[in-house]
Amino acid sequence: MRKLTITRPDDWHLHLRDGEALKAVLPHTVRQFARAIVMPNLKPPVRSVAEAAAYRDRILAAVPAGQQFEPLMTLYLTDNTSPDEIVSAKASNFVKAVKYYPAGATTNSDLGVTDIRKCDRVFEAMQQLDLPLLLHGEVTDRHVDMFDREKVFIDRHLMPLQQRFPRLRVVLEHITTSEAVQYVVSANNIAATITPQHLLFNRNSLFQDGLSPHFYCLPILKREEHRSALLQAATSGNPKFFLGTDSAPHSRNSKESSCGCAGCYSALHAIELYAEAFASVDALDRLEAFASSYGADFYQLPRSTEQITLIEKTWRVPDEVPFPESPLVPLRAGQEMTWQLA
Ligand code: NCD
Ligand code: ZN
Repeated sequence: MRKLTITRPDDWHLHLRDGEALKAVLPHTVRQFARAIVMPNLKPPVRSVAEAAAYRDRILAAVPAGQQFEPLMTLYLTDNTSPDEIVSAKASNFVKAVKYYPAGATTNSDLGVTDIRKCDRVFEAMQQLDLPLLLHGEVTDRHVDMFDREKVFIDRHLMPLQQRFPRLRVVLEHITTSEAVQYVVSANNIAATITPQHLLFNRNSLFQDGLSPHFYCLPILKREEHRSALLQAATSGNPKFFLGTDSAPHSRNSKESSCGCAGCYSALHAIELYAEAFASVDALDRLEAFASSYGADFYQLPRSTEQITLIEKTWRVPDEVPFPESPLVPLRAGQEMTWQLA
């Protein structure tokens, strides 16, 4: 039986929700990860340092007794975020970044930014104070094809943004295309997170044996050539690419619906999913740096000193796990996996 012991990983892009949903999903993340960058797209979103502090307290209160976990908080950028809030965020020491959602791009993004240039004063403050900007990098223009939204965002918004603020540190979140990989490799002061679903699946999975809502997330799965470019980037040893699950819990009812929510649930078995992806190209020796080193280095935080062990062993992903309104269906529900967290 092969074993793999690595430094305990961190999740650099995670949705934890709130209330009973938070209590249902947090133990899964805590079992795997030392820390996580917690997304602010609650309803209403986490827009101030005071709201982030209160949310952080609710997360800490939901950590199972005797276990360790550090939530790293983010603020949700709006047209009205003030440069003063950025000063407070930096001083807080627990707000580690600011998240940009284009208005209407994804779940709970109604209060997102309507025009990225409206935030230039905020970006100036972030550049000055060295507080990273996390981007949901998709345009919402209805004339742009769903599958081209990330590529168009890079040309239309990201390149001009980096020209205006060359020293602002940016993370292009949950990248899905070869164009994003190429851009991140070539530009300065930019890194990217990559999810397990975008490493393991292409857009065929959305339509395999009928419409499959549990593979629907945003940005949407792309062609095989993009999946393979992402897997190449993740396993390349380039520190600009690191782990961010984008685990985004939505109940079965809200996914299996005439207007289903976007999001894949992977917190249950995230590191195992990444292990499968890395093993598929014989790159398990690169997993530790991607999962446990490069993200901490980007955020200028110490690497974790704990370890986890993965065992090569066949097991079946449960069909569902408990969640408030109706159960959660994890990514690859009911299917066999070959690596398991000990
Ligand atoms: C996320 C969610 O549900 O909060 N959904 C998703 O498909 N990734 C929002 C997001 O990150 O886009
Ligand atoms: Zn997300």
